[in-house]
Amino acid sequence: MNITMIGTGYVGLVTGTCFAEFGHMVTCVDKVEEKITKLKEGVIPIYEPGLDTLVKKNISEGRLCFTTDITQAVPKADAVFIAVGTPSSRRGDGYADLTYIYDAAREVAAHLEGYTVVVDKSTVPVGTARQVSRIIAETNPKAEFDVASNPEFLREGAAISDFMRPDRVVIGIETERAEEILREIYMPLYLRDTPIVSTTIETAELAKYAANAFLAVKISFINEIANVCEAVGANVTDIAKAIGMDGRIGSKFLHPGPGYGGSCFPKDTLALMRIVQEHGENVRVVEAAVEVNAAQKARMVKKIREMVGGSVAGKTIAVLGLTFKPETDDMRDAPAATILPALLEKGARIKAHDPQGMEEARAYLPAGIEYQENAYQAAAEADCVVLMTEWNQYRALDLERIKTSMKAAVFVDLRNVYDPVRMKSLGFNYTGVGNR
Ligand code: UDX
Repeated sequence: MNITMIGTGYVGLVTGTCFAEFGHMVTCVDKVEEKITKLKEGVIPIYEPGLDTLVKKNISEGRLCFTTDITQAVPKADAVFIAVGTPSSRRGDGYADLTYIYDAAREVAAHLEGYTVVVDKSTVPVGTARQVSRIIAETNPKAEFDVASNPEFLREGAAISDFMRPDRVVIGIETERAEEILREIYMPLYLRDTPIVSTTIETAELAKYAANAFLAVKISFINEIANVCEAVGANVTDIAKAIGMDGRIGSKFLHPGPGYGGSCFPKDTLALMRIVQEHGENVRVVEAAVEVNAAQKARMVKKIREMVGGSVAGKTIAVLGLTFKPETDDMRDAPAATILPALLEKGARIKAHDPQGMEEARAYLPAGIEYQENAYQAAAEADCVVLMTEWNQYRALDLERIKTSMKAAVFVDLRNVYDPVRMKSLGFNYTGVGNR
């Protein structure tokens, strides 16, 4: 199949590259000249394990190419995937900004030749594919096309394996012709027994929001249970294990922490709330999850304050991990971007380290944070270590070395990486989340 991918952001780049790896001929288009020049040389603008190798391999094997020229890329395509950004709108009202999607639809429309399936890959509100269809028909009344929705469920840091071994592929289609093309594109997965769920277009669009909202609810739920554990002296890790063994509940996404972040959960929960309101309905459970998430970040500030004796003013806090999760350099809606400014404002000195995210972090965090070369440098002379993101390299720290280099042996483990009993026996004043 000939596939054109519009947009080489996170989703477009991973999806395009993986389609090439399946054996399809893929052209990725982006307006940013510099990005395309670099991609042609195999230089990847984001940190995603395994992606650089796969991009280089597929370029050299002739299945993957990059261009800024949409006029060349679209006519030959059997399917055009739209994977441009849908940021939260500038009005700050939670609506997704669809300008880039509609601009892409207009540009694609002008160059369609022969039957083509135009697929929404970006996460978009219900009804967007219909709008895209209308725009294409208006721009190019002769175009022979169908629109489809094919939401992605990739996790940053595990995107390649999520793409190659997904739990399912969802395709929202209206015609058999479009379904045939999408099934052909995903044939390599189908042969590996991946279920392909065919639905209406609106169902596929909503399925993505429902999945992300459910996972956000699950995290907020366990975060609240963690807070209850702190109040009653119970242990949330054991509770997560005990309830997670119930197949109806499942053990994943039951890790308490400083609140969920990233490019999806915060944005998609708000967008879902807006979509639902527009239809005069409610998603109160999701609204509560969003509220709980904001409260959880504030609670972490309070927790750190209490652990250093009631005030962070003049205290040195060592923060390990800044990104919203490990194995990414993404700082979008990272809990650190709320927690650290609050600590700074209250007079704390912050020494921070992150294995991949420090460059990105400078754009998201206020000036005044002192970036360090490693965890040990961050901890030296600190009044408190805060483990913010559970990078593997923080899982086996030389705790004796950390403790002796600190001013006071206080350890706030916001990801419950360490065993509270062991930490206390090592002489730390330790706390986790729901795990004292
Ligand atoms: C998510 C979805 O998992 C993915 O299917 C979708 O396509 C995009 O959004 P991602 O944002 O990459 O993926 O990260 P994910 O691993 O889901 O984590 C999101 C946030 O939740 C992180 O901040 C993470 O630390 C937090 N989290 C996750 C928890 O606090 N506890 C958990 O148990 C799981």
